[in-house]
Amino acid sequence: MLYGSNLGTAEGLARELAHLAQERGFNSKVAPLKDYVGKLPKEGAVLILTSSYNGKPPANAKAFVQWIETAKPEEIEGVHYAILGYGDHNWAETYQHIPRFIDQQLSAKGALRLTPLGERDASGNFEHQEKQWIEQLWLDLLKGLGIDRRTGLKHMSIGNQQKEQLQRQGNQQVQEHVQEHVQEHLKIDIF
Ligand SMILES: Cc1cc2nc3c(=O)[nH]c(=O)nc-3n(C[C@H](O)[C@H](O)[C@H](O)COP(=O)(O)O)c2cc1C
Repeated sequence: MLYGSNLGTAEGLARELAHLAQERGFNSKVAPLKDYVGKLPKEGAVLILTSSYNGKPPANAKAFVQWIETAKPEEIEGVHYAILGYGDHNWAETYQHIPRFIDQQLSAKGALRLTPLGERDASGNFEHQEKQWIEQLWLDLLKGLGIDRRTGLKHMSIGNQQKEQLQRQGNQQVQEHVQEHVQEHLKIDIF
């Protein structure tokens, strides 16, 4: 859970979400966006919660926003992410400017969006918006990371070449190999 927050609203939910994620069996960490400049993890999922101030990033997201603009696709490709934006429609010209900008940059550079960008409006029905985004997040997170909702196991697939090789070795071994992989329990990290 990475947050950009001046007054603590986005940071507060990042901490709460981390706690909820732990309860659901995920490993989770909370940090300001500035701590992940140039090192977005490609394992697990990155959840970003950030506000905007007059169209600019909060202080603890400034360096991240500068980096993301110039980052090379190699640094971003393969990152699984979801963003919940914090804003207020009274700032009409720059409403949700920073979350939208981060979403656009990540997606353009090859990161994989797990769930649609959420927008929480401090002068709107924000509790409902937040709740809906979180509910959808859990479903999309499992789907996007290939985890079975009921068993918590990760779907694994083996390549054709590997399959053929195993088939040559005999059916018994194929079964054992697949079993081994299926039983490998999931350990997903959320940053
Ligand atoms: C001085 C000021 C400027 C703001 N500028 C924007 C803005 O440009 N766009 C926007 O969507 N919200 C804007 N907001 C609303 C905040 O982003 C919103 O209240 C948010 O929930 C604050 O989150 P935080 O407590 O995590 O920083 C502004 C709020 C203040 C006080």
